[in-house]
Amino acid sequence: MRDKHCGLVSGDDIGKVINLAGWVFRRRDHGGLIFIDLRDITGIVQVVFSPDISQGAHERAGDIKQEYVLKITGKVEKRPPETENPNIPTGTVEVLVSSFEILNTSKPLPFQLDEEEPNESLRLKYRYLDLRRPEIQKIFLARHKAYRTTRDYLVNNGFYEIETPFLTKSTPEGARDFIVPSRLNPGMFYALPQSPQLFKQILMIGGFDRYFQIVRCFRDEDLRADRQPEFTQIDIEMSFVDVDDVLAISEGLIMSLYKELKGVPADFQIPRMKYADAMELYGTDKPDLRFGLPLTDITGIFQETEFGVFRKTIEQGGIIKGLVLKGKTLSRKDLDTAVDTAKAMGAGGLIWIRKENDILQSPIVKFLKDEEKSSLSGTFDLSNGDVLFIVADSKDKANDVMGRFRLYLGERFDLIEKGVDRFLWVIDFPLLEYSEEEKRFVARHHPFTSPKESIRNFNGDYESIIARAYDLVLNGVEIGGGSIRNYRMDEQMEMFRLLNIKEEDAVEKFGFLLEALEMGAPPHGGIAFGFDRILMMFLGLESIRDVIPFPKTQKGTCLMTGAPSNIGQKQLNELRIKTVVK
Ligand code: AMO
Repeated sequence: MRDKHCGLVSGDDIGKVINLAGWVFRRRDHGGLIFIDLRDITGIVQVVFSPDISQGAHERAGDIKQEYVLKITGKVEKRPPETENPNIPTGTVEVLVSSFEILNTSKPLPFQLDEEEPNESLRLKYRYLDLRRPEIQKIFLARHKAYRTTRDYLVNNGFYEIETPFLTKSTPEGARDFIVPSRLNPGMFYALPQSPQLFKQILMIGGFDRYFQIVRCFRDEDLRADRQPEFTQIDIEMSFVDVDDVLAISEGLIMSLYKELKGVPADFQIPRMKYADAMELYGTDKPDLRFGLPLTDITGIFQETEFGVFRKTIEQGGIIKGLVLKGKTLSRKDLDTAVDTAKAMGAGGLIWIRKENDILQSPIVKFLKDEEKSSLSGTFDLSNGDVLFIVADSKDKANDVMGRFRLYLGERFDLIEKGVDRFLWVIDFPLLEYSEEEKRFVARHHPFTSPKESIRNFNGDYESIIARAYDLVLNGVEIGGGSIRNYRMDEQMEMFRLLNIKEEDAVEKFGFLLEALEMGAPPHGGIAFGFDRILMMFLGLESIRDVIPFPKTQKGTCLMTGAPSNIGQKQLNELRIKTVVK
């Protein structure tokens, strides 16, 4: 139908008669001439309907409306200099139309494609219109390149691309499964994979040495700006490796993607931080290092305190944590807002202490001893104008609240360095964490993660066991995570013992893997990156929905197709399912 794409018409075509096809992006009528920006995936080109070129075409052009689909024939001409448009690649030329065909019409659109920020619900309902917008197309062209970069890098490093099933058994990533009823096995269900974790380990046992897959994963969890119920991972597993090998391959991949998507050279070293240090300094396992404001444990200062709140916290085994905001002028209202913010984050309270005229001021200073005040001043090197914020609570709560409060201050007082990317490996995670809900220890990563040191006959402090697990964090967002696995059955069974999982339950759930571990499983480990999150971060976008062609809403629905929806009685009968509608 066409000789060229619209965005690729250039000075070399001047004088040629060409056929083009595309959509009517904008139309302008000027002094007897009709100008149309004809658009396709490559960009736009100006086409001109002039009565001097074709009386008939010019007359019929009156019918053309926005988003009509046209095929045109015309001669490429240089634009008069004063009408050149330096903002588009085709801005020096235009096509004078001799004939055209309307291939399809369009109803008036529910939103304009060049609108600043169309309503997101409308965009998702009419996703095909949204996808026509040049800035949205740019994102998916970048995504397309990222697939290729990933494949090139991994294939060049000896990885094989292998697929794993979607209709499978539950995988232990800690979220809820999406389940699929089996018609052939009434009353039985498949689970959609939360990740290919067990299959990739099986592939190592199957001798494939280095595996990767760009794969969809499914997790039924509450959605956030960086979470979708189905998302894509770059999934990796390697044999005969330890932590450093996986990290090195990962860094190479991340640098390649960074270079491709950001267009800037990338050969920086990614620093590493132990989980314990991340919690201590930033109150989170995914610290945003684009600004400072580290937390300090000041429990020691208050061992003999007479201030009730602190004394009680210490007696109950809690901690006192502070951070200081320097060089900002805070009004009383700012301080009140800070207190309310910390409370909304779950803090029992937030104490502020401000140094003014060399004196510490705060509603609570009257309860503090002179030594405590001077210790605080010394520890935080307080100058006039500085404000110290303090939370006293259980260790987990204090870290969590202060970690989030630090982010709030970073944003509120504009402390976050713009235009920089701070990558960080968080390493040495605890192997286990206590689940209040299940009243037992659960795997922090997943139960196949190996400990740094043997846990055979371990009966010490479970929380002190360190795992060979790692996360990659970028500007406070977790973009990848993985571990070195248990590859021997006895080690794996020790892990189940710590998790209080009975042998028969383990066999019932993961019997195939356990059996495989007993038939020559090699040492192995791997990682998975959140492909969507990487794109979102590298392209500087706010929401993961922006990088997924057909995303779900916050409530897990697809506004375009209307999924999820009822299924008919016939299908339910076939599946032998009865629904109980509330
Ligand atoms: P993990 O559960 O840490 O590890 O997942 C790996 C990465 O996937 C991304 N991610 C998500 N992205 C969007 N929406 C979600 N709901 C979502 N959940 C996770 C994150 C995360 O870092 N099998 C292990 C990997 C391994 O051990 O090799 C796993 O899936 O960026």
